[in-house]
Amino acid sequence: MPVPISVIVVGKDAQVRSETRAYLAATGRVHVIAESADYQRAVELIEQLQPQGAVIIVDGEEAAALKLVREIGRAYPHTAILCTGQHCAGETIVRAYRAGAHEFLMQPPDPQELREVLERLEALLGEGQGSRTGRVIAVYSSRGGSGTTTIAVNVAAALARRMHQETVLVDLNLQYGCLPVFFGVEPTYSLTDVAHNEARLDIQLLRSFLTKVADGFYYLAAPLKPEEADDIFPAHLEMAFGLLRTQFAHIVLDTPHILDPHTIAALDHADLILLVTLGDLVSLYTTKRGLEVFRRMGYEAEKIRLLLNRYKNKEVPLGKIEEVLGQKIAFTLAEDARATWEAINVGKPVVLSESKSPLVRQFIELAKLVAPMEAASASSGESGRRFFSALFGGGR
Ligand SMILES: Nc1ncnc2c1ncn2[C@@H]1O[C@H](COP(=O)(O)OP(=O)(O)OP(=O)(O)O)[C@@H](O)[C@H]1O
Ligand SMILES: [Mg+2]
Repeated sequence: MPVPISVIVVGKDAQVRSETRAYLAATGRVHVIAESADYQRAVELIEQLQPQGAVIIVDGEEAAALKLVREIGRAYPHTAILCTGQHCAGETIVRAYRAGAHEFLMQPPDPQELREVLERLEALLGEGQGSRTGRVIAVYSSRGGSGTTTIAVNVAAALARRMHQETVLVDLNLQYGCLPVFFGVEPTYSLTDVAHNEARLDIQLLRSFLTKVADGFYYLAAPLKPEEADDIFPAHLEMAFGLLRTQFAHIVLDTPHILDPHTIAALDHADLILLVTLGDLVSLYTTKRGLEVFRRMGYEAEKIRLLLNRYKNKEVPLGKIEEVLGQKIAFTLAEDARATWEAINVGKPVVLSESKSPLVRQFIELAKLVAPMEAASASSGESGRRFFSALFGGGR
């Protein structure tokens, strides 16, 4: 199965938009990178974000919707157009096709029909422009201080500098992000600039907001002032991820521990979640809750990889931990407080240092594991449903 298609969703009614997003996301074959209630704004979004497809809700606003279909067909002939609606008469469907829609989908969609429609759109896009390659990897822990940032930093560094695949790391700890300390490079721009420039954000502008660590390795900083976190909405993150996917091989997300709408948007969007736990009882207790909530969110088992950090061999046997969590441990990282402490002091990730720490080899192995896993997850179309986004009101 090919890389998920990036789309914008356009429609007047927020409820229908949200249901449409849920149907699409549940297939794992589509990434919604922006939505709009305004049919005119949709044209600007296509110009800005260059999505592969536009999903246009025709209900109640037929004239505006079909005008948009014609406009996209004229100005962006490589954009796949899927029209959809809940109460559309046969004539509306015919008019949508005449205006230039590639597909029409009645809602609620029959799962088989939805699959077929997406297959045809994938084939259509395959004939035209090349698909995007970037993959989003979220590093998450249900408990603070488990090593989420350390792992995100080192996996990203290994992908970029050891495996030579252009990578960007995004700091989603919106109030107190701390990536500058890990790299010894101060940012000039941050996610705040993404939010403040939402109307004109494109990949060139977004690239100018990244902080360069080394060739092929960048980070997108959290707001420079904690109070600016309020300016950032989940929709800004989706837009940024969608754009970054068009140019980077890997987008690694350092996520906070709270399951708020921003974190949910990030986890939903991720192709792979590295779930970090420690081996102590409190960590295992919270990690078990985390795994349960991921299941309720509809995430496929394949989307989640459990990492055991700071593991000392004399601790609880791995089999016991797996039994408690009901989940296989995908990777184990050793305890080495000295190496991680030194890395922060010199502003250079362990994996790029001369350190003799076992963590150097382990982070490289982990990055190797992540890269093929991503390819596999893309080909099996794994992606979480946005069920939880709906619960949390994931948009703005
Ligand atoms: N494998 C390891 N061995 C020893 N110390 C480690 C290891 N991994 C992380 N640490 C240390 O644990 C502390 C917490 O790590 P880190 O900041 O990466 O966790 P976090 O989950 O991102 O925390 P926060 O909740 O603050 O975001 C840091 O001092 C870090 O150096
Ligand atoms: Mg952290």
